[in-house]
Amino acid sequence: MRFAAVMGAMFVCASMAQADSPVVADRGLDGFVSVDRLPVPEASFLQDGRTIWADTCEGCHGGNKYVGAPKITSLRAWEPRIAQGMEILIDHAVNGFVGPKYTEMPPRGANPDLTDEQVAAAVAFMVWTSGGDAVVETYLKTLMGEGS
Ligand code: HEC
Repeated sequence: MRFAAVMGAMFVCASMAQADSPVVADRGLDGFVSVDRLPVPEASFLQDGRTIWADTCEGCHGGNKYVGAPKITSLRAWEPRIAQGMEILIDHAVNGFVGPKYTEMPPRGANPDLTDEQVAAAVAFMVWTSGGDAVVETYLKTLMGEGS
Protein backbone atom coordinates (compact mmCIF):
# COMPACT_ATOMS: atom_id res chain seq x y z
CA MET A 1 0.00 0.00 0.00
CA ARG A 2 2.64 2.50 1.11
CA PHE A 3 4.99 1.39 -1.60
CA ALA A 4 2.31 1.92 -4.23
CA ALA A 5 1.58 5.39 -2.86
CA VAL A 6 5.26 6.32 -3.11
CA MET A 7 5.39 4.91 -6.63
CA GLY A 8 2.34 6.98 -7.47
CA ALA A 9 4.03 10.13 -6.23
CA MET A 10 7.08 9.28 -8.32
CA PHE A 11 5.01 8.89 -11.45
CA VAL A 12 3.35 12.24 -10.83
CA CYS A 13 6.76 13.90 -10.40
CA ALA A 14 8.19 12.19 -13.46
CA SER A 15 5.38 13.61 -15.55
CA MET A 16 5.67 17.24 -14.46
CA ALA A 17 7.14 18.14 -17.83
CA GLN A 18 3.90 17.15 -19.58
CA ALA A 19 1.47 19.91 -20.51
CA ASP A 20 -1.22 18.10 -18.61
CA SER A 21 -0.12 15.39 -16.19
CA PRO A 22 -1.53 11.89 -16.17
CA VAL A 23 -3.79 11.14 -13.24
CA VAL A 24 -3.29 7.94 -11.26
CA ALA A 25 -4.24 6.33 -7.96
CA ASP A 26 -3.44 2.99 -6.37
CA ARG A 27 -6.81 1.50 -7.34
CA GLY A 28 -7.71 4.14 -9.89
CA LEU A 29 -9.83 7.27 -9.50
CA ASP A 30 -13.00 6.78 -7.46
CA GLY A 31 -16.08 5.68 -9.34
CA PHE A 32 -16.44 5.27 -13.07
CA VAL A 33 -13.74 7.11 -15.01
CA SER A 34 -15.25 8.79 -18.04
CA VAL A 35 -12.97 10.59 -20.50
CA ASP A 36 -13.84 14.08 -19.22
CA ARG A 37 -12.03 13.19 -15.96
CA LEU A 38 -8.83 12.40 -17.85
CA PRO A 39 -6.13 14.87 -18.90
CA VAL A 40 -5.43 15.92 -22.48
CA PRO A 41 -1.87 14.87 -23.37
CA GLU A 42 0.51 17.04 -25.34
CA ALA A 43 1.36 14.54 -28.10
CA SER A 44 -1.20 14.43 -30.92
CA PHE A 45 -0.87 10.63 -31.16
CA LEU A 46 -2.03 10.39 -27.54
CA GLN A 47 -4.77 12.96 -28.11
CA ASP A 48 -6.11 10.75 -30.92
CA GLY A 49 -5.79 7.81 -28.55
CA ARG A 50 -7.88 9.66 -25.97
CA THR A 51 -10.70 10.18 -28.49
CA ILE A 52 -10.59 6.56 -29.63
CA TRP A 53 -10.46 5.38 -26.02
CA ALA A 54 -13.60 7.40 -25.24
CA ASP A 55 -15.47 5.97 -28.22
CA THR A 56 -14.51 2.29 -27.94
CA CYS A 57 -12.69 1.43 -24.71
CA GLU A 58 -14.27 3.57 -21.97
CA GLY A 59 -17.34 1.35 -21.48
CA CYS A 60 -15.16 -1.48 -20.17
CA HIS A 61 -11.89 0.20 -19.11
CA GLY A 62 -13.55 3.12 -17.32
CA GLY A 63 -14.15 0.75 -14.42
CA ASN A 64 -16.78 -1.78 -15.47
CA LYS A 65 -16.66 -4.33 -12.64
CA TYR A 66 -18.68 -6.91 -14.56
CA VAL A 67 -16.28 -7.42 -17.45
CA GLY A 68 -13.06 -7.47 -15.39
CA ALA A 69 -11.19 -4.98 -17.58
CA PRO A 70 -8.21 -3.22 -15.95
CA LYS A 71 -9.44 0.24 -14.93
CA ILE A 72 -7.74 3.24 -16.46
CA THR A 73 -5.74 5.28 -13.85
CA SER A 74 -5.28 2.20 -11.59
CA LEU A 75 -1.62 1.65 -10.81
CA ARG A 76 -2.41 -1.70 -9.21
CA ALA A 77 -4.28 -3.00 -12.25
CA TRP A 78 -1.81 -1.71 -14.82
CA GLU A 79 1.64 -2.07 -13.31
CA PRO A 80 2.05 -5.82 -14.05
CA ARG A 81 0.48 -5.40 -17.49
CA ILE A 82 2.69 -2.45 -18.44
CA ALA A 83 5.70 -4.55 -17.38
CA GLN A 84 4.99 -6.79 -20.39
CA GLY A 85 5.95 -3.94 -22.70
CA MET A 86 4.01 -1.93 -25.29
CA GLU A 87 4.43 -4.50 -28.05
CA ILE A 88 2.58 -7.24 -26.17
CA LEU A 89 -0.10 -4.87 -24.87
CA ILE A 90 -0.81 -3.62 -28.39
CA ASP A 91 -0.80 -7.17 -29.77
CA HIS A 92 -3.35 -8.21 -27.14
CA ALA A 93 -5.53 -5.19 -27.88
CA VAL A 94 -5.43 -5.71 -31.67
CA ASN A 95 -5.84 -9.50 -31.71
CA GLY A 96 -7.78 -10.02 -28.50
CA PHE A 97 -6.72 -11.74 -25.32
CA VAL A 98 -8.22 -14.01 -22.68
CA GLY A 99 -6.71 -13.61 -19.21
CA PRO A 100 -6.11 -16.29 -16.55
CA LYS A 101 -9.56 -15.61 -15.05
CA TYR A 102 -11.23 -16.09 -18.42
CA THR A 103 -12.09 -12.44 -18.76
CA GLU A 104 -11.85 -11.42 -22.37
CA MET A 105 -10.37 -8.44 -24.16
CA PRO A 106 -12.16 -8.56 -27.54
CA PRO A 107 -10.06 -7.87 -30.68
CA ARG A 108 -9.91 -4.08 -31.31
CA GLY A 109 -12.29 -3.59 -28.38
CA ALA A 110 -14.96 -5.18 -30.62
CA ASN A 111 -14.70 -2.26 -33.06
CA PRO A 112 -13.44 -3.79 -36.36
CA ASP A 113 -13.33 -0.35 -38.01
CA LEU A 114 -10.27 0.64 -35.96
CA THR A 115 -6.87 0.41 -37.68
CA ASP A 116 -3.87 -1.14 -35.89
CA GLU A 117 -2.50 2.36 -35.40
CA GLN A 118 -5.74 3.62 -33.82
CA VAL A 119 -5.79 0.68 -31.39
CA ALA A 120 -2.14 1.34 -30.56
CA ALA A 121 -2.93 5.02 -29.90
CA ALA A 122 -5.75 4.06 -27.51
CA VAL A 123 -3.45 1.60 -25.70
CA ALA A 124 -0.75 4.27 -25.44
CA PHE A 125 -3.21 6.79 -23.99
CA MET A 126 -4.50 4.25 -21.45
CA VAL A 127 -0.96 3.28 -20.40
CA TRP A 128 0.07 6.96 -20.27
CA THR A 129 -2.55 7.78 -17.68
CA SER A 130 -2.25 4.52 -15.73
CA GLY A 131 1.30 4.92 -14.44
CA GLY A 132 3.18 4.18 -17.65
CA ASP A 133 3.88 7.69 -18.94
CA ALA A 134 7.65 7.06 -19.04
CA VAL A 135 7.10 3.85 -21.01
CA VAL A 136 4.86 5.70 -23.45
CA GLU A 137 7.38 8.50 -23.91
CA THR A 138 9.99 5.93 -24.94
CA TYR A 139 7.46 4.25 -27.23
CA LEU A 140 6.61 7.56 -28.94
CA LYS A 141 10.30 8.24 -29.56
CA THR A 142 10.62 4.83 -31.21
CA LEU A 143 7.58 5.59 -33.38
CA MET A 144 9.09 8.87 -34.51
CA GLY A 145 12.37 7.11 -35.24
CA GLU A 146 14.29 9.45 -33.00
CA GLY A 147 17.95 8.67 -32.55
CA SER A 148 18.14 6.63 -35.73
C1 HEC B 1 -16.03 -5.51 -23.84
C2 HEC B 1 -15.10 -4.94 -22.89
C3 HEC B 1 -13.81 -4.36 -23.40
C4 HEC B 1 -13.63 -3.36 -24.33
C5 HEC B 1 -14.69 -2.61 -25.13
C6 HEC B 1 -12.21 -3.12 -24.39
N1 HEC B 1 -11.54 -3.94 -23.52
FE1 HEC B 1 -9.53 -4.05 -23.22
N2 HEC B 1 -9.77 -5.53 -21.87
C7 HEC B 1 -10.99 -6.06 -21.47
C8 HEC B 1 -10.77 -7.07 -20.46
C9 HEC B 1 -11.84 -7.88 -19.75
C10 HEC B 1 -9.37 -7.14 -20.27
C11 HEC B 1 -8.62 -8.04 -19.29
C12 HEC B 1 -8.35 -9.41 -19.86
C13 HEC B 1 -7.61 -10.22 -18.82
O1 HEC B 1 -6.40 -9.98 -18.63
O2 HEC B 1 -8.23 -11.02 -18.16
C14 HEC B 1 -8.78 -6.15 -21.16
C15 HEC B 1 -7.43 -5.93 -21.26
C16 HEC B 1 -6.84 -4.97 -22.07
C17 HEC B 1 -5.44 -4.72 -22.17
C18 HEC B 1 -4.34 -5.43 -21.39
C19 HEC B 1 -3.85 -6.66 -22.11
C20 HEC B 1 -2.77 -7.37 -21.33
O3 HEC B 1 -1.92 -7.99 -21.96
O4 HEC B 1 -2.75 -7.31 -20.11
C21 HEC B 1 -5.25 -3.71 -23.07
C22 HEC B 1 -3.94 -3.09 -23.51
C23 HEC B 1 -6.57 -3.35 -23.54
N3 HEC B 1 -7.52 -4.12 -22.93
C24 HEC B 1 -6.80 -2.33 -24.45
C25 HEC B 1 -8.08 -1.97 -24.91
C26 HEC B 1 -8.31 -0.91 -25.86
C27 HEC B 1 -7.23 -0.05 -26.48
C28 HEC B 1 -9.66 -0.86 -26.07
C29 HEC B 1 -10.42 0.06 -27.00
C30 HEC B 1 -9.95 0.12 -28.38
C31 HEC B 1 -10.28 -1.87 -25.25
N4 HEC B 1 -9.27 -2.53 -24.55
C32 HEC B 1 -11.64 -2.15 -25.19
C33 HEC B 1 -12.24 -5.68 -21.93
C34 HEC B 1 -12.48 -4.72 -22.89
